[in-house]
Amino acid sequence: MIKKCLFPAAGYGTRFLPATKSMPKEMMPIVSKPLIEYGVEEALQAGMNDICIVTGRGKRTLEDHFDTNYELEHQIAGSDKESLLTNIRQLINQCTFSYTRQREMKGLGHAILTGEALVGDQPFGVVLADDLCINTEGPGVLAQMAQLYNLFRCSIVAVMEVSAEETHKYGIVSGQTISDDLIRVETMVEKPAEEDAPSNLAIIGRYILTPDIFDLIRNTDPGKGGEIQITDALMAQAQQGCVLAYKFKGRRFDCGSIEGFIDATNYCYDSIYS
Ligand code: G1P
Repeated sequence: MIKKCLFPAAGYGTRFLPATKSMPKEMMPIVSKPLIEYGVEEALQAGMNDICIVTGRGKRTLEDHFDTNYELEHQIAGSDKESLLTNIRQLINQCTFSYTRQREMKGLGHAILTGEALVGDQPFGVVLADDLCINTEGPGVLAQMAQLYNLFRCSIVAVMEVSAEETHKYGIVSGQTISDDLIRVETMVEKPAEEDAPSNLAIIGRYILTPDIFDLIRNTDPGKGGEIQITDALMAQAQQGCVLAYKFKGRRFDCGSIEGFIDATNYCYDSIYS
C-alpha cells in the first residue's frame, strides 16, 4: 500500500497577489478550510498518511497549520467554537508530516526531486493542492488512483478532457486505450499550443509515481519555460516501461486561477457546507 504523499508547495501563487504576498497560496481557504487541508484529507482517504511537503521561503504557516496551537486551543477549550477544530485535529492525529525546502524555483520536476529526501525508495502520491478535486459520489481521486496502482504497479497520472484552446495550460497525453477510463501513455507534451497537442487529455495535479522517477528527473534537461518538467521525466518513463493516464471520477477545480477558485468556493458552499 502507498503510504507517502508529496505536496509540492513552494510556488509563489502570483495570480493571487496581493493575497499571497505573505500567505502561501496553499493556505487560501475554500469557505473555511485551506486548500492544502482538502489535499491532505484526500491523501488520507487514499491510505497515504505520511505527508511530505516541499515548502519554500515564506511558507511556515503550512507547518503551523498541521500542528497544535496551544494558546488558541486553550482559549476556546469548552466553548462552542471548539468543534470547529475537530476535523483538523483528527487529521493531524492520523498523519505524520515532514517538510523540506526547495531553495530555487526550477519547475515541478525539480520540486518533486527535492522531495526525494522525504519519500525515499517507494511509490508515492503527488498532490498539487491548487487543483481541488471533489468526488461526492465515491472515493476521492487519489483513492481511485491508489486502487489502480495496486493492479498495475506503475506510474499513473489523472487526466481530463479540455478544450483545444486550453491545451497550452497543461501537460497533454495520448496513447493506447485500455478501457473507457484508462490509457497507456505513448506521448506526453508539456503545455503544447493547440496545433501541437497530441490530444485534448490534460494532466491534472494528481500523480502516483514509482521511485525510479527520481533518476529520470535527474536526467531530464530543462524543458518548457526553462524548467525541469515532471511531464518530460514521465515521458521517459513511458518509453521505458508503463505510465497510465486515468480519467478520474469527480470534479476538479483550478484553484490557481481566480475563476476556478470562485467556482470551487460556490460548489463547496452549496454541496458540502450547506
Ligand atoms: C503543472 C504540470 C502540468 C499539469 C498541471 C496541472 O503545471 O506541469 O503538466 O497539467 O500542473 O495543474 P502548472 O499548472 O504548475 O504550471
